[in-house]
Amino acid sequence: MSAFIEQLPKVELHLHIEGSLEPELVFALARRNGITLDYPDESALRAAYDFDDLQSFLNIYYAGMSVLQTEQDFFDMAHAYLARAHGENVRHVEIFFDPQAHTDRGVPFSVVITGLHRALEQARHDWGMSSRLILSFLRHLPEASAIDTLRQAEPFRHWLAGVGLDSAEQGNPPEKFVRAYALAREQGYRLVAHAGEEGPPQYIRDALELLRVERIDHGVAAIEDPALMDELAAARIPLTVCPLSNLKLKVVDSMADHPMAKLLQAGLCVTVNSDDPAYFGGYMNANFLALQQGLGMTDRELLQLALNGVEASWLSPEEKTLLM
Ligand code: HPA
Ligand code: ZN
Repeated sequence: MSAFIEQLPKVELHLHIEGSLEPELVFALARRNGITLDYPDESALRAAYDFDDLQSFLNIYYAGMSVLQTEQDFFDMAHAYLARAHGENVRHVEIFFDPQAHTDRGVPFSVVITGLHRALEQARHDWGMSSRLILSFLRHLPEASAIDTLRQAEPFRHWLAGVGLDSAEQGNPPEKFVRAYALAREQGYRLVAHAGEEGPPQYIRDALELLRVERIDHGVAAIEDPALMDELAAARIPLTVCPLSNLKLKVVDSMADHPMAKLLQAGLCVTVNSDDPAYFGGYMNANFLALQQGLGMTDRELLQLALNGVEASWLSPEEKTLLM
């Protein structure tokens, strides 16, 4: 591991907390909750982490998180991620969670968010790590379910910074969620959406124009559309890019083909993130390392990516100054 990468102060803006669930914790929580898994042990589960595309990952991702039942389970999951991030000199995190994946199994929204919030507060107290929580809608479900989730979130509005959109992108375009995003905007949420991961550049345009998001999660499909790249660069619309995720889900054939360097050189506000680190082979440092070793990005470029992360974050100007 490069000392430069290890010592670089980092922020993470694209992290699904359910995607930080390591096989060891999946099995520990399954034992605690009396749940039998389809895999005999941790190594058999880990061996199944061989994905062809986003959907093949999502199937295992939703199966893995089914062990989460109690507030303590959500706390333990978030605490494990935050400790890991702190150990990699990650100073600030903006974390997605997928409430519908839990409420649809009968776990109350309050149980999910209370456990997550407690872990974030402890990390702030123990390590000075700042954080924001982003409620993410599952785009394979109907818009009515997203709107109902927004209603369930109302008592916890003060713990939530924004809303996002994740899960199966193809066939679930931004336009499906125009009303849900309009309601979230009325309630003062900040807005982001996954777009241009497996979907076309048009989904990036639609997320910006129809959903009025301020940041795009992934967005690597922009590389196919030079006019869009120019617009994203001019407006400094951040892209929260996830290099190892793109490799594992075969969005790119190899790290050498990853568009990160070209997007950065074209002046876009691209940032480095781990997405679902338990599933994609690494946390923040591993993602920076992949860009250095697989794509030949220089320390100066890696520094610019880290600075972009601070710029793209939802920290206040004062907090940003303290980080830079
Ligand atoms: N893409 C879409 N949905 C997701 C992802 C992702 O990379 N990770 C968790 N949910
Ligand atoms: Zn994601």
